[in-house]
Amino acid sequence: MKLRFRLWLTFSLLVVIICTVIYIGIINVYEARTMESQKQLVISQGYGAVDKIRGTLPRAADRTDGYLSFYSDQLNSRLLILNHEKQLWFDSAKQLQPGAPLSLAILNEGEVPAGLFIPTSSYGYVQYTLLPLDEAVDLGYLLIINNVDYLYEDIFSFRLQVIFIMMASVFAFFFLCYGIASWFTGPINTIIQQMKRITPQRRAFKVAYSRKDEIRELATEIEHMVRQLNRYDQRQQQFLSSTSHELKTPLATMQLIVENLPHVREDSSTHHDFLSDLSVQINKMRRIVDNLMDVNRMAEKPLEKQRLSGKDLEKHIREHFQWIAEEKLIELNFLGLDTTIEADRDLFLRAADNLVSNALRYSDTKGRVTISLLPASGNGSAEFAVCDDGIGIPEEELPHIFEPFYRSNEASSWNQEGSGLGLTIVKQIADMHECRLLVESQSGKGTCVKLIFP
Ligand SMILES: Nc1ncnc2c1ncn2[C@@H]1O[C@H](COP(=O)(O)OP(=O)(O)OP(=O)(O)O)[C@@H](O)[C@H]1O
Ligand SMILES: [Mg+2]
Repeated sequence: MKLRFRLWLTFSLLVVIICTVIYIGIINVYEARTMESQKQLVISQGYGAVDKIRGTLPRAADRTDGYLSFYSDQLNSRLLILNHEKQLWFDSAKQLQPGAPLSLAILNEGEVPAGLFIPTSSYGYVQYTLLPLDEAVDLGYLLIINNVDYLYEDIFSFRLQVIFIMMASVFAFFFLCYGIASWFTGPINTIIQQMKRITPQRRAFKVAYSRKDEIRELATEIEHMVRQLNRYDQRQQQFLSSTSHELKTPLATMQLIVENLPHVREDSSTHHDFLSDLSVQINKMRRIVDNLMDVNRMAEKPLEKQRLSGKDLEKHIREHFQWIAEEKLIELNFLGLDTTIEADRDLFLRAADNLVSNALRYSDTKGRVTISLLPASGNGSAEFAVCDDGIGIPEEELPHIFEPFYRSNEASSWNQEGSGLGLTIVKQIADMHECRLLVESQSGKGTCVKLIFP
């Protein structure tokens, strides 16, 4: 069932329940009040009669009948006088003889004055009122019996009116609830319509919704998601086209070399040069393919975090890079390596390798490369940094260095090697560890790349 109808039904059901409760409340209060005022009215009228009748009893009992029929006419009721044992004494209707047995519920009431409303089969609703003839002496009782059908008709017609008003309001609320339900679900429908219009060719999502609530949040989140998807798609396209371009270049060179190789067979030095060029291009292609496979594999592999100390890091870097540093007479410095981090060992060392390799590659001989693992200065638990005093990165190139295959002009002329995938891999590893990646660099002065752990 659609949300709109579910909401509509819920609201309507609530309205029906509330109206029923209100109806029962109003009717009960009205009924109780009407009957109470009727009871009080008859009691006060009855006391008027009691005052007169009391004077005749028991000495002038012959005048009692006269008073009884007078007040019976005046109150439009049947009046019975009972003795102190609640046995019949006088009947204004003259139907029952004195002493006749009476079985009436009102006679069992403990307290007088008392009033009771009882439905009967032959007289409709009957009101019984029992009053003491004398408050001080146990003389007897006056029982007033009157037909109160009109009271019940009045209550019944009041019930009908209230039912009518309630039905009309429930009906009006049905429409109102439908409106409210549509008002609530309208923006959701707009969002659904907009989402249905998203296709691989047209990935756009925009909903005009000004209220600041969960629906706004939902729309913003979807907008954000679609934008991310577009960016991801764009990056993938770019990655694919750069990859094919990067593979094509060494392939073309290799083809050219192979085609010309037979012509230089006689000239052994040129032949040798051609072969070594071929080997350079094959190595370049292998590096690209290796890196590409790494980029792919990393995305699939789940993180296996473990404790990694600064000492482990130093050992690993010295093993792999000490000889290169020595060849270029570059000093490898390690700083504050007492810190430990939680990271996927293989991935983190891979990122560190790429950063150290860059620092060494883009530094002149006799330079200095500093590797540090320190507690983070600001937000974060630890900070891993690789700094060099090499060629640096021009400011305008900084935003691009993490793009796949990006190599600055200066870097390309400085060093032929390199596929431009190293920092892409570092970025990917940083993202996987939820690390922040910062680069500070000045052209000609040096570069510092920092990985800040959360
Ligand atoms: N320490 C650094 N000093 C100067 N420039 C750097 C440094 N690190 C990176 N760069 C610049 O960023 C570019 C991208 O670096 P990245 O590591 O991705 O590629 P690469 O080193 O050229 O090749 P690869 O790492 O794939 O062998 C480099 O080509 C270079 O221009
Ligand atoms: Mg590199």
